[in-house]
Amino acid sequence: MDRLRICKFMNRAAQKEYTARRKQFMRMMGEDSIAILPASPERTRNRDVDYPYRVDSDFYYLSGFREPDAVIVLMPGRIHGEFILFCRAKEPEQERWNGRRSGQEGALADYGADDSFPISDIDDILPSLLEQCERVYYTIGCNPEFDSRLLEWLKIIRQNARSGVRIPDKFVSLEHLLHDMRLFKSSYELRQLQTAINISIKAHERAMRMCRPGMMEYEIEAELLYEFNKAGCGSAYPSIVGGGANGCILHYTSNSDELKNGDLLLIDAGAEYDCYAADITRTFPVNGRFSGEQKAVYEVVLEAQLAAVKATKPGAQWQDPHHVAVKVLADGMSHLRILKGSVDYLIETGKYRQLYMHRTGHWLGMDVHDVGDYKVGGEWRELEPDMVLTVEPGIYIAEGLPDVDERWWNIGVRIEDDVLVTDQGNKVLTRNMPKKVRDIEDLMAA
Ligand code: GLY
Ligand code: MN
Ligand code: MN
Repeated sequence: MDRLRICKFMNRAAQKEYTARRKQFMRMMGEDSIAILPASPERTRNRDVDYPYRVDSDFYYLSGFREPDAVIVLMPGRIHGEFILFCRAKEPEQERWNGRRSGQEGALADYGADDSFPISDIDDILPSLLEQCERVYYTIGCNPEFDSRLLEWLKIIRQNARSGVRIPDKFVSLEHLLHDMRLFKSSYELRQLQTAINISIKAHERAMRMCRPGMMEYEIEAELLYEFNKAGCGSAYPSIVGGGANGCILHYTSNSDELKNGDLLLIDAGAEYDCYAADITRTFPVNGRFSGEQKAVYEVVLEAQLAAVKATKPGAQWQDPHHVAVKVLADGMSHLRILKGSVDYLIETGKYRQLYMHRTGHWLGMDVHDVGDYKVGGEWRELEPDMVLTVEPGIYIAEGLPDVDERWWNIGVRIEDDVLVTDQGNKVLTRNMPKKVRDIEDLMAA
């Protein structure tokens, strides 16, 4: 979670951006329709302590509003205003305990709402808004409590049907339209994303510089968090700081072991800035110098990563960078004799998956695994300008793998960059983060 706007008002550029997003979304919705988006509920961590609140991305994408207990209602063409924001009313006594609220005045002045009502009045107001519409855009199944409230409001309208009110009869998932919008990043979004990335690069560099044998993984995590927090950010996802064997566990997050001389350290960590996620992985030697085997594996992953980045361009299919990466990785596994058999054999039999078991990337944006379909009409999607994705091949050689010589054991390498598809090809947004063996060793020695 970041702290950037909790107490600040939205600036003009941000207001313009959110207004444009709502307008575009409402154009796609058409008239006679209503979109309803509740903010995600607060969640209990333990007893009376909540998790730090982070509003869900769809809600934030359309409003820039980050208080809980709020509902966005969009009604294209509504004469009394298209954007209605239900949110907590101002209550000085409550605010003295739990922090400031925007209230209805703030919703209008700072968030561009046309109309705003206290959230406590929603039961009285929403049914009368619903009955003016034919089509309801709503994401069912994510917020069961709100789902049942919506059903309750519809029941109320049905009960009044005899007095001539109309019952909306088309229910459409708003995710389809909204997530396609979110897949294509505006220049405003690219600036936010680049800021998250720049902060993350600083953090990764700091971790590389601070790393010494004998430190604990959580001490390195603390160095990452220091840079994130100093910039007003939190983590976009739990950081992976895995030394040696832990680097071969894909979702290792306990970060609780000692870093040993001679091991590699895999760090997958990204800051979240204004609800935009960076997602960067680098792998480096704990003592600052790659061993022969580590370097050999690293160079294969780097070659695969560079080839996959090159294959990331408009017109390419979603799967192309993955296929390119698999080819280079399998070739390396075969040539280094980590696995027995030719590159074709390793690919055809799927045996390469013993060492590379995930996909080469995912969409990136407000969510680290961002929204957007990977297939359209049953076919892998074509890459288009303004999409952002990660490119993150790896090789993970767990200890005890049968038929793998033990000199390779516990070498886990992933290299992950964030890549924007452009008209001409691509732009690596994380390009300032060192990834060549020499550059990493130089940075660690400095
Ligand atoms: N950090 C999550 C991922 O790389 O997909
Ligand atoms: Mn990733
Ligand atoms: Mn990652």
